[in-house]
Amino acid sequence: SVFIPLFSATGLVCGFAFFLLTVHSSYGEVSFSFPEEMKRGSVIGNIAKDLGLEVSRLSARKARIDTEGNSKRYCDINLSTGKLIVAERLDREGLCGKKTSCVLKQELVLENPLELHRISLHVQDINDNSPQFTEDLIKFEIGESADKGARFSLDEAHDADVGQNMVQGYTLERNDHFVLNVNTKTGGRKYAELVLDKELDREQQQELKLLLTAVDGGTPQRSGTVVIHVTVLDANDNAPVFSQAVYKASLPENSPLETVVVTVSATDADDGANGEVTYNFDHVSDEYVHLFSLDHKTGEVRIIGKVDYEEESSYEMQISAKDGLGLASYSTLIIEITDVNDNAPVIYLQSLTSPIPENASPGTEVGIINVQDRDSENNREVRCSIQQNVPFKLVPSIKNYYSLVTTGELDRELVSDYNITITATDEGSPPLSSSRSIQLSVADVNDNPPLFEEQSYKAHVTENNIPGASVCSVTARDPDWRQNGTVIYSLLPGEVNGVQVSSLLSINGDTGVIHAVRSFDYEQFRSFKVQVVARDNGSPPLSTSYVKVIIDITDVNDNNPSIYIQSLTSPIPENASGPCLHP
Ligand SMILES: *[C@@H]1O[C@H](CO)[C@@H](O)[C@H](O)[C@H]1NC(C)=O
Ligand SMILES: *[C@@H]1O[C@H](CO)[C@@H](O)[C@H](O)[C@H]1NC(C)=O
Repeated sequence: SVFIPLFSATGLVCGFAFFLLTVHSSYGEVSFSFPEEMKRGSVIGNIAKDLGLEVSRLSARKARIDTEGNSKRYCDINLSTGKLIVAERLDREGLCGKKTSCVLKQELVLENPLELHRISLHVQDINDNSPQFTEDLIKFEIGESADKGARFSLDEAHDADVGQNMVQGYTLERNDHFVLNVNTKTGGRKYAELVLDKELDREQQQELKLLLTAVDGGTPQRSGTVVIHVTVLDANDNAPVFSQAVYKASLPENSPLETVVVTVSATDADDGANGEVTYNFDHVSDEYVHLFSLDHKTGEVRIIGKVDYEEESSYEMQISAKDGLGLASYSTLIIEITDVNDNAPVIYLQSLTSPIPENASPGTEVGIINVQDRDSENNREVRCSIQQNVPFKLVPSIKNYYSLVTTGELDRELVSDYNITITATDEGSPPLSSSRSIQLSVADVNDNPPLFEEQSYKAHVTENNIPGASVCSVTARDPDWRQNGTVIYSLLPGEVNGVQVSSLLSINGDTGVIHAVRSFDYEQFRSFKVQVVARDNGSPPLSTSYVKVIIDITDVNDNNPSIYIQSLTSPIPENASGPCLHP
């Protein structure tokens, strides 16, 4: 330890005032400088030597340390060595607090003669206190939107020591976001602030714990720490994110209402309302909105209308997810409608030749049929058939076209009309079918000659008949249609015993009734033959071979002719004469 003797004028004046009655009193002032907290008994200095006192006489002179008033006695004098020693604990902080110099006044009193020496004890600071923060924990709430460079003041750390032993600086535990800025206040005190060096992101890290250390300048250095707890507050800095950029779903047509097609989902990393997601269609046409619903909260897409694959097989919609403050993101929803066998085939009659002539050769095409099915894939594969027992068949042609062709000879006289039923069946499961009837008529061809009902005819005529009287009638049948079946009768010209047939008989061309042209005379002809020809009125006409008609003339009493008499002008009832007899 070092001592610095000081002799001051003020000391002399005071001493004089104080010990006015003491004649031989002498005055001095001595000061010592030493560190605080020295053990009791430690030597501060040799006061006897400093003041030039005789050590051997100290006892005799009752040398002692005294204090003014009731302040404590901190040192003592060793009477055998003259050394000043520590008598009491000297805690600089306790004695002087923050004062930069800590001086204790003591007095050395000697008697015979009385002497009084002032002693100044300069207690020097040692670094026996660490820096300390007021709180155990420093709390901050900082929004994640805080900008880089934002500053946050930190509580100062305090150190009871003085000078260099006070807080000299701060350090911050290494971290990703903050650095420390240390400032000096007037008076030399240091304080620190947190400076945001890299932006916070609540979604990455919701809170940070940083250790702040304050250090003093003593030797050895002492330090104190505090934990800084930073809570990162949310900002709406995240838009919702859809789990998929495109949602694809497939739905059978005619699905029942309220069927859930797909559930879309988006997540938002933000907190509270900033992270609440609402789903919506984005600029979707009214038509689609009437077919599909999107639950704002759950993201469920349901069907609310009738979807028809044949009308629209695919729907594409934009959907949005928005958070509480309106940050949005978008995704695409594609709904593929799958076919269900809900359409029966439709049979179209493209062309039909009706009537068809009955002489059409087998294989003649009489119609073209087209079959269509609005479904797809197997549901639109169609098979066509017609009923059995008709002389027609369907021949598949290109695509869904079929030719209706004849398979055999037609005969109008047997079947003049056909009701052809075409059935079309698709290959769906279950299959659907439809049918259509086609009316087909067969047109007549003059393919039948008139045929007499009998091989030959015979008539009996009584002589002296009236000219013009009907003799009998012949009938030929022709099954053809109209003119082609209309029979016209005529007599084959010729001679009977040198007489022209036409001068003996006539025939009604329409009815086949044969008339006598003149009165017959049994004595002239007993019997004669004529040939009747039947032809039809077709074009060209067809004729039968001739039929033979034998006329027998009967002899009667000349006075009493018995034949039926009728005027030529009035029609003769067919049964008047009766048919010519079968021979
Ligand atoms: C044709 O046949 C179908 C089915 O057998 C039937 O429903 C329809 O009435 C018939 N048409 C005629 C004109 O006979
Ligand atoms: C009669 O037959 C001919 C062919 O021989 C035909 O052209 C004509 O149309 C037929 N007449 C009637 C009325 O069917």
